[in-house]
Amino acid sequence: MSFWNDKRVLVTGGAGFLGKHLVENLISNGASADALVIPRSNETDLRTWDGCVSAVKDVDIVIHLAVTGGGIDFNRRHPAETFYDNAVMGIQLMEAARREGVDKFVMAGTICSYPKHTPVPFREEDLWNGYPEETNAPYGLAKKMLLVQGQAYRAQYGFNSIHLLLVNMYGPGDDFDLKDSHVVPALIRKFVEAKESGVDEVEVWGTGKASREFLYVADAAEGIRLAAEKYDGSEPVNLGAGMEITVKDLAEAIAEVVGFEGRLSWDATKPDGQPRRLLDVSRAKDEFGFEARTQLKDGLARTMEYFVANRGTIS
Ligand SMILES: NC(=O)c1ccc[n+]([C@@H]2O[C@H](COP(=O)([O-])OP(=O)(O)OC[C@H]3O[C@@H](n4cnc5c(N)ncnc54)[C@H](OP(=O)(O)O)[C@@H]3O)[C@@H](O)[C@H]2O)c1
Repeated sequence: MSFWNDKRVLVTGGAGFLGKHLVENLISNGASADALVIPRSNETDLRTWDGCVSAVKDVDIVIHLAVTGGGIDFNRRHPAETFYDNAVMGIQLMEAARREGVDKFVMAGTICSYPKHTPVPFREEDLWNGYPEETNAPYGLAKKMLLVQGQAYRAQYGFNSIHLLLVNMYGPGDDFDLKDSHVVPALIRKFVEAKESGVDEVEVWGTGKASREFLYVADAAEGIRLAAEKYDGSEPVNLGAGMEITVKDLAEAIAEVVGFEGRLSWDATKPDGQPRRLLDVSRAKDEFGFEARTQLKDGLARTMEYFVANRGTIS
């Protein structure tokens, strides 16, 4: 019998980028589609107490993915909503879940909760050693408070809340809207469009020197499922791929996958964000046997194929 087949599971944000992959993963691992609760924001606003109470009704497990967020530009333009929405959604949802007697609460946290100058690779023990990179701080700190809440609820109520620190994800279904998107979808779109229109130069944000780690979205979904099944600890766990690449090398890799042969010009007036990012992923392997499987080049190719195939529906 599968862990999932007798459970009613709330997946907040279940219609989002990661959420769709997670729902697919849960169903292929025994969850019943009828027992998955996926609230949409236009019907159930999780920023309201009533929305949270109705969402957790008769639920066994909560996997909280719903978020107000986006790339670096979105975070710069919306710091207040990013802080308020993410804090208030998570705090109320966890309290409603506790009152409802939910068995387990799985929180999708973020690498943006780490201090700006964390030694590389980021270890969970270093999470509290400084303030996050400024543009990410309202997002990273709002989510980090939910780690504190989960630990306090475990200590006082015996509530089983776990907190996963997710690295940047990419893959099919990502947001390709240039206003709000992350670096991978933004560059795929720019290169595909430049190639089609015969433009021979593409502008890329920042200096290219910052480094990042990328986790293929279906791998992230697998990691969340394994953690939900097997991890019941109060300490946060990094969920990443354990690889590091500079933005310059990433841009060149994407250009190659797309077949864009023009020049890249670096707009150094735009922020680089956090200087380096690379997670120590040993705790996830030790605690619940998670290791990312998808190589960056393969994942980029699948993401580009998704963009090209779905352009008609992408704004
Ligand atoms: N993407 C990344 O690279 C990344 C990196 C680290 C961590 N994470 C974390 O992973 C999780 C999933 O991210 P994602 O990129 O998949 O997000 P996403 O595609 O933007 O999806 C967010 C979802 O949240 C729901 N939502 C937003 N506000 C809501 C509200 N007020 N009430 C109810 N639902 C609401 C939306 O529902 P509707 O569609 O119905 O509006 C949407 O489906 C987030 O917690 C994020 O912080 C993501």
